[in-house]
Amino acid sequence: MTLELEALATNGAPHWTSDSLIARDHEVVSPAIYRYTDIAFARGEGVFLYDFEGRRYYDMAAGIATMNVGHCHPRVVKAIADQAQTLIHAAAHVGYMAPYVEMAETLRSLMPPPLNAGKVLLVNSGSEAVETALKLARVATKRSTVLAFIDGFHGRPMGALAATGSNSGYRRHLAGLLAGVEHVPYPNCSRCAFGHGPRTPQTCCGQWKAFIQLTLEKLVHPDDLAAILVEPIAGEGGYIVPPDDFLPTLREICDRTGALLTVDEVQTGLGRTGRWFAFEHSGIVPDIVALGKAIGGGLPLGGIVARAEIMNRWWPGAHGSTFGGNPIACRAGLETIAILREEQLLENAVRVGHRLMQGFEAARASLPMIGEMRGKGLMIAVDLVDEHNQPLSAERVKQVIKALAKHGVVMTKCGPSALRLAPALILTERQADEVVDLVTEALRTL
Ligand SMILES: Cc1ncc(COP(=O)(O)O)c(C=O)c1O
Repeated sequence: MTLELEALATNGAPHWTSDSLIARDHEVVSPAIYRYTDIAFARGEGVFLYDFEGRRYYDMAAGIATMNVGHCHPRVVKAIADQAQTLIHAAAHVGYMAPYVEMAETLRSLMPPPLNAGKVLLVNSGSEAVETALKLARVATKRSTVLAFIDGFHGRPMGALAATGSNSGYRRHLAGLLAGVEHVPYPNCSRCAFGHGPRTPQTCCGQWKAFIQLTLEKLVHPDDLAAILVEPIAGEGGYIVPPDDFLPTLREICDRTGALLTVDEVQTGLGRTGRWFAFEHSGIVPDIVALGKAIGGGLPLGGIVARAEIMNRWWPGAHGSTFGGNPIACRAGLETIAILREEQLLENAVRVGHRLMQGFEAARASLPMIGEMRGKGLMIAVDLVDEHNQPLSAERVKQVIKALAKHGVVMTKCGPSALRLAPALILTERQADEVVDLVTEALRTL
């Protein structure tokens, strides 16, 4: 057997090297997948990832904001193993499963009234949750149009993509996606669509309100508006924190028009911003909440929670999914939620997020490449600027991220020019300091 075939046959970790894995990946995996780093991940533990040569990396991407209690938390590992020995899959369409019901009960219990008496439908991903939410909103209202936002991200499959407005590259050559989705500008005070930036959410020009008003006068009749779909903090779009009156204004428009306020908490949810859900910072309650990422504890799980009278407008067979609410994913998610609660990790997210912000703020004095910082809790964007204080190009930010990996820190990008920090909520203040040191050291060498 040739060495190559032997490696293929064994398929086991001991035979891998980072180089061999990457070479084989390039042979068989679609180039559609963009990689922020050239690291081959052998294993993960807590806030760290390791490659096949044993190099250790601070993981500030956390599986793209999914691993909220860190990699391979022993309790999550045990929950997965126990469930795998009991029931791997049976399908919600075929009968009833305890982990599905417990997950539904737990998710709604984390929400304020009336959603805490709402109903839940579980699927497999964030995009699928968004599409489920849009489908429900259209069926429940018998209306056709959805208002979404420029700078918003809701996923890449064709339905969710129709609502995504953060980057025209995602929609390239795909004109004519789902009909009936209209976009208005998200209140992005760093790069104001109305030419008033850069400002802060506190000094926002407020023109986004007039734009929505205009849209409802000229383009979308309020009687046709099924839903407003919105992220409470625009994630992929750049960790854009909107002004305080943003969600309350959307709530008011929905109350006035009969549309359903549909909040995408796929990235912001499950404690990342210091509350279970980021909409809680604004005091409003949505009609439908889309969830994904962290709720599966690292396994594929998404879902929606909706007011009961809305969900009850669906009839048996109206929606579903073969694997949605898979028992192992539900158990991993339930254990994750228990750990977040018992170890007070929402409070930790606020404390350590503050520490990271302070660290980068202090570094900025001697590192002019660090621009604006945005975010809440452990959802932090650090904008990078050039010598003329202009945003670094997306290409240069990607190069910076590759360089950071060589200094032992893994992260991704958000918006056109920001480093995205979305680590596990177990990150300690000492580790946050070390991350700031590693990142600033790397930036100084560039
Ligand atoms: C806010 C938001 N919605 C939806 C999605 C899509 O989730 P998924 O990639 O699990 O389909 C994402 C993914 O990044 C997201 O950030």
